[in-house]
Amino acid sequence: MSCSFSPEQLWNLADTYGTPLWVYDAQVIRARIAQLQAFDTVRFAQKACSNIHILQLMREQGVKVDAVSRGEILRALAAGYVAGGEPSDIVFTADVMDAATLATVVEHQVPVNAGSIDMLHQLGAASPGHHVWLRINPGFGHGHSNKTNTGGEHSKHGIWHTDLHAALDAIAQHGLHLAGLHMHIGSGVDYAHLQEVCGAMVALVKSAKDHGHDLQAISAGGGLSIPYRDGDPTIDTEHYFGLWNAARKQAEAIVGHQLALELEPGRFLVAESGVLLGTVRATKGAGSNHFVLVDTGFNELMRPSMYGSYHGMHLQRRGVGVLPAVRDSVVAGPLCESGDVFTQGDGGVVLPRALGDAQVGDLLVIHDTGAYGASMSSNYNTRPLAAEVLVDGAQVRLIRRRQTVDELLALELGL
Ligand code: LLP
Repeated sequence: MSCSFSPEQLWNLADTYGTPLWVYDAQVIRARIAQLQAFDTVRFAQKACSNIHILQLMREQGVKVDAVSRGEILRALAAGYVAGGEPSDIVFTADVMDAATLATVVEHQVPVNAGSIDMLHQLGAASPGHHVWLRINPGFGHGHSNKTNTGGEHSKHGIWHTDLHAALDAIAQHGLHLAGLHMHIGSGVDYAHLQEVCGAMVALVKSAKDHGHDLQAISAGGGLSIPYRDGDPTIDTEHYFGLWNAARKQAEAIVGHQLALELEPGRFLVAESGVLLGTVRATKGAGSNHFVLVDTGFNELMRPSMYGSYHGMHLQRRGVGVLPAVRDSVVAGPLCESGDVFTQGDGGVVLPRALGDAQVGDLLVIHDTGAYGASMSSNYNTRPLAAEVLVDGAQVRLIRRRQTVDELLALELGL
């Protein structure tokens, strides 16, 4: 997809804040939220982009939040979310829970979306009456990569579908309160699978009802795809809602009352809002390859190295604008590792890309990096985390300052 910022705007941001730099467009995020208004609850999977200021934006738009760690619960609280309402602002989704996390969910009465029966026992012993969801693995899954497929017997996620009654028994044993059933089978939707997921959800609701359990809600999970490449399909959110709404109606007929329908997207809400800016620091040839080396690497954007993911990108030159794509280039970062290449496919195959004829000092703009970009960054090669900026029309806000090397060293010195 193309980027929502003008070349001049991006130069200004790069000059003011330096590179590497994450930039988000608040208006794109609001537009995506608006597309999902038909759902009773939209719950942002904050792992996609967990900056507190992005969470505040979500909260202001009525979007609830999912947390998958104690840290993410604390982020949601810091953004002003309050757990415990109906539906709760925050839900904690996980397959395991350590003692500190358990203490936090109990203290703040955060409903737990449990992916293992052991979690139900641990929670039940500490907090009888606690609200729980059951995350069910329906026995099949789907994802843009094997690493993002969260269903089927190779996935560690969720309670295996044939264990539903055992999970319900654990709920009854501890007097826990079943809020709803949840399924998330992976990232990257196709409608064939969606029909199957909806059918599986209806069957689970029936099975829970037959086992004597009532519930108030079902969650469709996340997984909505976005068009990373020009020409990729754009998701039809009305059709998506229609399929889930039909499943909800069937489930309501089974339980005999209304059920709330939740959706839990991460990528869809933020991916297209973001770009990552880097500066060209060197160009060089290596046999048939032309390398463009920039000051941002997989410690910032891990997706190409981790999954062979495609991100659109362009080069712009000061005073010239966007450069026409005339030269096949391999775009690589500063890390001391061969896999630090943004233009690669599955298995690390280098895939040169037609780009502008780069010069030192040009700005590289990597598109669609709002989801699983900054939130997956690391300090590899002792590189400080990059700054993040949120643009809202004419307003520009620094929402995370750049980390310093001194801050990193301080973790280890003077112990
Ligand atoms: N709900 C649950 C329980 C999840 O595990 C996930 C993603 C989501 C919702 C949101 O999925 P989304 O709507 O964003 O597809 N790092 C990978 C994606 C990993 C997704 C993990 N779980 C990537 O960069 O593509």
